[in-house]
Amino acid sequence: MDTTPAPLNAPHRTALITGATAGIGEEFAEQLAAQGRHLVLCARDAEALAEVAHRLESRYAVHVETLIGDLLTEKGAAAVEKRLASDIDPVELLVNNAGFGLIKGFTSSEWQDEQDHWRIHTEIPLRFMHTAIPAMIKRGGGRIINIASIAAFTGVSTYSAAKHAMVEFSEYASRRYQDRGVSVTAVCPGMTRTSFHERMNMNVSRVPKVAWLKPEQVVRESLLASATGKPLYIPSRRYRLLRFLLRFLPARTVQKATTNAASSTND
Ligand SMILES: NC(=O)c1ccc[n+]([C@@H]2O[C@H](COP(=O)([O-])OP(=O)(O)OC[C@H]3O[C@@H](n4cnc5c(N)ncnc54)[C@H](OP(=O)(O)O)[C@@H]3O)[C@@H](O)[C@H]2O)c1
Repeated sequence: MDTTPAPLNAPHRTALITGATAGIGEEFAEQLAAQGRHLVLCARDAEALAEVAHRLESRYAVHVETLIGDLLTEKGAAAVEKRLASDIDPVELLVNNAGFGLIKGFTSSEWQDEQDHWRIHTEIPLRFMHTAIPAMIKRGGGRIINIASIAAFTGVSTYSAAKHAMVEFSEYASRRYQDRGVSVTAVCPGMTRTSFHERMNMNVSRVPKVAWLKPEQVVRESLLASATGKPLYIPSRRYRLLRFLLRFLPARTVQKATTNAASSTND
């Protein structure tokens, strides 16, 4: 196993971020633009995307491309793939971030919703890595950040299962491709203040204040973890402690605690 970390100061000029109109993705765009990176931002909401692009271009004098599209459509995913393969202003940092949650339990939700949810968190990032990794190797290196979740270690939902799959694959890809200059990092944030929970109609009023992270911290720490070639990173000390404790807690206790705190509909 090769554990050589990716070079700290590699020239990762252009970054492609999926789901850049809100939350963690928008914050990645902000912090990467502040570092002087050119950006390719992807999401469905054309107006929001144009607003983010305009703000960052005027604030940081960087070039921002936008790819408007639904990643769950062939057209939307193929446009991102094409950009990842391009040698013109090549993408040197890919952030697989776009995602959403489901409020209903597995058998209560519509199959289409379950399928879309599974695809956005697993198939789509995998597809983008399938294009990005060989292109990065050919160019001498690159970096990939996969936004998973602390839920990957809880085993309480299809969301947990999908994020677990992303952690497993990222760790494998990190081992497999690091010696060829490509670092892959799975980031596992805890509850983060974004539009994620509102979009899924989750009542978060019982989630304690201490549980919340700010996107600024999540992204700052994630970029550092990626720059030092970490295969897995959990932002914040409190969630690293939780990850440690989760190893010893019975699965049923975890299930009960998460359902109570997040008021999700179970079945
Ligand atoms: N917030 C948390 O507590 C938390 C914790 C752990 C992990 N995460 C993970 O962090 C990632 C980002 O979530 P967030 O909290 O920042 O959520 P958010 O504020 O709701 O942002 C989600 C982003 O994904 C985009 N998106 C969703 N579906 C898409 C699709 N089909 N095609 C293209 N873009 C799509 C949205 O843009 P458009 O609507 O414009 O398309 C938006 O930019 C997700 O993978 C999530 O699972 C979140």
